[in-house]
Amino acid sequence: MKIARTPKELKEILKVNTGSVGFVPTMGALHHGHLSLIEESVRKNDITVVSIFVNPTQFLEGEDLDKYPSKFEADEKICSLAGVDVLFYPQVKDMYEDDEIKISAPNIRGCILEGYVRPGHFDGVLTVVMKLLNMVSPTKAYFGKKDAQQLALIMQMVKNFCMDVEIVALETIRESDGLAMSSRNVYLNKNERVEALKISKSLKVATKLVMQKKLTTELIKKEMFQTLEPLDIEYVAIVSRAFIPLNEVEIGNTIILVAAKLGSTRLIDNLWL
Ligand code: PAJ
Repeated sequence: MKIARTPKELKEILKVNTGSVGFVPTMGALHHGHLSLIEESVRKNDITVVSIFVNPTQFLEGEDLDKYPSKFEADEKICSLAGVDVLFYPQVKDMYEDDEIKISAPNIRGCILEGYVRPGHFDGVLTVVMKLLNMVSPTKAYFGKKDAQQLALIMQMVKNFCMDVEIVALETIRESDGLAMSSRNVYLNKNERVEALKISKSLKVATKLVMQKKLTTELIKKEMFQTLEPLDIEYVAIVSRAFIPLNEVEIGNTIILVAAKLGSTRLIDNLWL
């Protein structure tokens, strides 16, 4: 596995490649969720590039940028064992200059839910993903459904800017008790870790109701809130794949999203129906 520490080094390494390129952008502290994306990319492409870059522009003032877990040595090992060909590990100074042009998230889809709670977050995500996709020029890029709104906005950006890459969306990987894997789970203390299970439980409650043909979103949300209490809930939303609020669950076109805080840790999870 080669390690590129600057965009220039990355370009040098990639220029000899003539086959298909799979790309998995990450912020590191890799877990099985990231690994599922990496493994799929390794299976389906001639070479796989993984980036590890804790992108400062997607963190708001007061968020966890400074304490975001960093485990480069472990991450490097995981990538190497998984068959990654190139690990791109740039520094902030090599990714950004002063007074740059930025991508802004769309006014409606980009400013609800995560975009509402974290204003400016998606501008930072889209800008860095645009840069990374341009640097790597992948055939396919892999993202998790765990970050459903991020995924939808990246797909929209690729469409709106006529970018020549296929975005592949993969399922959320969970701990055995149901908690969605996240680099931020390490912040949870013992009690918060137990309480965090209410998030995936609330999605199981929603699944059960839908299986019983109870499709009214108000009713589903009410039962979900009951399961989530007394967590500090930021939102429970039931939207279409295009992120339009629904009155009734439409099978094949619905995402149920939850965001909640445990102490100072924000967790998100969702269910695709
Ligand atoms: P990060 O949180 O490191 O996630 C990298 C990728 O892993 C994203 O596509 C995310 O959806 C996926 N992922 C995270 N947890 C997952 C899980 N439990 N199961 C499956 N996939 C999971 O998302 C980002 O980084 C950044 O915003 C980034 C896109 C790299 C831009 O900076």
